[in-house]
Amino acid sequence: MEKREIILDCDPGTDDAIALAYAAAHKDELELLAITTVCGNQSVEKVTRNALNLAEFYGLDVPVAKGMDTPFTREPVYAPEVHGETGLGQSVLPAASRQAEQEHAVLFLNRLLTGLPEGKKVTIVATGPLTNIAMLLKLFPQVKKHIREIVFMGGAAMGGNVTPSAEFNIYTDPEAARVVFRSGVPLVMCGLDVTLKCTLKRQQIIKLCQSGNPVANLCGDLAGYSLENSSSKYRGEVSIHDVVPLMYLLHPDIFKVQCTILDVDCSDGPSRGTTLCDFRWWEHEEEEMDAWILMDADGARFQEELITGLYELGERIKNKKEEGM
Ligand code: RIB
Ligand code: CA
Repeated sequence: MEKREIILDCDPGTDDAIALAYAAAHKDELELLAITTVCGNQSVEKVTRNALNLAEFYGLDVPVAKGMDTPFTREPVYAPEVHGETGLGQSVLPAASRQAEQEHAVLFLNRLLTGLPEGKKVTIVATGPLTNIAMLLKLFPQVKKHIREIVFMGGAAMGGNVTPSAEFNIYTDPEAARVVFRSGVPLVMCGLDVTLKCTLKRQQIIKLCQSGNPVANLCGDLAGYSLENSSSKYRGEVSIHDVVPLMYLLHPDIFKVQCTILDVDCSDGPSRGTTLCDFRWWEHEEEEMDAWILMDADGARFQEELITGLYELGERIKNKKEEGM
């Protein structure tokens, strides 16, 4: 596949952390230009610290820029029951040797994108609330010509996790999601319709934890924390939601997609944050159907690709350490 240049906007977060490992494992196919962080699973301070520590641990020498510290208009909704008070469960990483960029993530993204040569486009992968991306598109709409597509983890054509009908990333900032959905930028929604099938099972997590491979151990601990401390424990498996956008870019054949038009419920009622997917192609002009939604996934292939990637990155890190000795 052609090398895909991506920006990762995230809120690490246990599954964001595993997604970062998966991105680092695929440096040859995915060129990570920058990591930006957003208030979501935990405060933007905590998720930024996590992003810096994870990037260093995985050997990712890319800028990390801190973004929005609250949703557009609403109060933050953190998820300590899934990600712990630190955002990374009970895992402790060596402190990164570097700091985040001085510039706010939204200003950093504008400068990065507008600095691209004419005609150059990059992919934005978003695995947290869409607050940064919405602010970027509102303040600097001229960046749209440099965005190939936004592939985001969020929403669902059917179902929810925070409520029966709303998924966390959209629920926490529905206004931001609406700005992105109406931006005209090509969208790929990786929602609960597929992420509930993209999991690691308890036995797989135990094997990762016992592997002696540094990345497999960390990601096993992270997934294990979410499995044992959230309602996932009743499922016996935990969704690794945030890997899905990256897996889609590398292995689209694992997924089934459908075109749609996206909207979101911005009310304060029981349906707050519900994503509304209009599949009625016969009611719309073709160009209006500007979003793709992943509707099915081969869960076994997902597990195989993810686990392989984690072990490969861990071996690379171990070999580098031994060479350095
Ligand atoms: O609903 C799952 C999503 O919300 C994931 O991105 C997880 O990290 C949380 O941000
Ligand atoms: Ca996330």
